[in-house]
Amino acid sequence: MSKAVRFYSRSGNTKALADAIASGAGVTAVSVDDSLSGINEPVDTLFIGGGLYAYGIDKKLKNYINTLDSTKVKKAAVFSTSWLSKHALDIIKDALKARGIEVVEETCYAKNMPGVAELKAAGEFGAKY
Ligand SMILES: Cc1cc2nc3c(=O)[nH]c(=O)nc-3n(C[C@H](O)[C@H](O)[C@H](O)COP(=O)(O)O)c2cc1C
Repeated sequence: MSKAVRFYSRSGNTKALADAIASGAGVTAVSVDDSLSGINEPVDTLFIGGGLYAYGIDKKLKNYINTLDSTKVKKAAVFSTSWLSKHALDIIKDALKARGIEVVEETCYAKNMPGVAELKAAGEFGAKY
């Protein structure tokens, strides 16, 4: 099963969660900023996440989702970090669904920088889908 992990992170919290998911998935997490972030080969699961900024997601993540091709992404699994609100999970899910991409119901979330238990759960999340 092929997997990919893509994220947007300003201060490293979501990157830490992405790295733990990637470790469980057996791949490397790539920032949507990276020139190699495009999904060119079909993947079974795209793990995709970002932080919440002023109750929204960064334009770079939004724009990246709008480049995704549903014929290359069989399903997506969403993650996020924030201070309090889990709203980014819904924003990302809705943007993926609008692209015609199936999204698994379960999500992965941490309050700011993920702790040991959250990193462990993230690894399991990465292995599960
Ligand atoms: C400019 C800015 C706006 C933020 N707005 C919110 C917000 O509306 N709700 C919230 O719960 N957290 C908010 N946060 C907290 C971040 O979502 C949280 O620190 C997150 O883990 C940052 O992820 P990152 O380190 O991957 O960039 C905000 C942080 C910043 C810097």
